[in-house]
Amino acid sequence: MDSLRIQGSGPLRGSVPISGAKNAALPILCAALLADGEHCFRNVPALRDVRTMGRLLETMGLSFSMEKNTVDIVGRPVGEPYAPYELVKQMRASVLVLGPLVARYGRAKVSLPGGCAIGARPIDQHLKGLEAMGARVELSAGYVNVEVPKGRLEGAEIVLDFPTVTGTENLMSAAVLAKGRTTLVNAAREPEVEELGRLLNKMGARVEGAGTDVIVIEGVEALEPVDHAVIPDRIEAGTYMAAAAATRGDVLLEGVTFDHLEALAAKLRAAGVVVEREGEGVRVAASGELRGTNVTTLPHPGFPTDMQAQFMVLMCTATGRSAITETIFENRFMHVPELNRMGAIIDINGRTATVEGVPKLQGASVMATDLRASASLVIAGLIAEGTTNVLRVYHIDRGYERIEDKLSPLGANIVRVSE
Ligand code: EPZ
Repeated sequence: MDSLRIQGSGPLRGSVPISGAKNAALPILCAALLADGEHCFRNVPALRDVRTMGRLLETMGLSFSMEKNTVDIVGRPVGEPYAPYELVKQMRASVLVLGPLVARYGRAKVSLPGGCAIGARPIDQHLKGLEAMGARVELSAGYVNVEVPKGRLEGAEIVLDFPTVTGTENLMSAAVLAKGRTTLVNAAREPEVEELGRLLNKMGARVEGAGTDVIVIEGVEALEPVDHAVIPDRIEAGTYMAAAAATRGDVLLEGVTFDHLEALAAKLRAAGVVVEREGEGVRVAASGELRGTNVTTLPHPGFPTDMQAQFMVLMCTATGRSAITETIFENRFMHVPELNRMGAIIDINGRTATVEGVPKLQGASVMATDLRASASLVIAGLIAEGTTNVLRVYHIDRGYERIEDKLSPLGANIVRVSE
């Protein structure tokens, strides 16, 4: 297993290109199940999770090829609408094939994703919505079996208990080929949901309100293949913004959508970080003392849970106290014990971690099991005295394209060590 060896190395300076959004690309690739023919997806990040999704689509009979950041998929009728445990266990986002398969074939057998390091992460809302649309759902032997007795889903009004991101995406994808109108109430408003709505409409669907909390979908008879470029990754961008601020550097992020970063920008500015739009990019700069700042994660447009760990590292060397509350996942503080081993002072009480700022962190060998927690440990290594080894780098490779190749040109002293 690879690790990253990092020497604390002063302020990051320069510019860094931001890749396409992982959490937009994954549901978009699944949408290729909805229409036969040649699809082309551009600005797709070259990530482990994207390759895993490609393998899953290939097992169902689609052809998948990726050249740099362009993915070509030839959609064709799948033999079996089946997603095996072997692939789903590697990536819970595999559950995103469920909506398209049931929409297109009236049935699907998909392994339950199971929990993961950050929480139980059930899919009850996904299944409740499909049942409302006329599907029969049965759980057995770790699989969810979905059948539509009438053969075709029917539009319904669905009120989600929680604005689940992939739940909204699954149900939107299911509804585009259903008979009649579907209304999703309390839908997730993340930019990646809005992007999927845009993509589905380009394929001939009739989706209105994606990106708001009420989405209305008029079912159509068939969809067409599509050529589409994926939006930038706001979480990758946020991670580099936190790194620039934590190292007291001055970095220009190229190719971001600033509107997707408002909640993060507000908290960075509250802490004393300079955050400025610059053309198609954003400039982040900090120097000297930063202020301890409280954060509570919330569904979009609130502060994103996927930025909680990275913001916490920034607070570790701010002046004063910060209260960081995680409301989305029940176990998303796994970076805390690792940061405390590096000299941070963080105390967890239920869903709130209280950070007391310290002047410096000390390098150590650290490990996390959550993609974003791992990224936060890389940031910690950049600002620590001495050497930090971040183990199990495959977690990072799931969500960050060539993280060491993007940080080195900014002045970071970071190398990948293959075990
Ligand atoms: C998406 O996961 C993202 N993944 C996550 O990013 C992100 O952290 C999360 O949304 C929240 O923003 C992808 O888009 C592929 P949820 P998702 O359904 O859809 C509960 C990353 O780092 N819930 O919005 O799985 C659930 O347990 C990943 O890129 C139910 O109870 O998140 C959780 O506590 C990590 N029942 C909360 O809602 C359901 O049916 C949020 O889940 C669905 C969800």
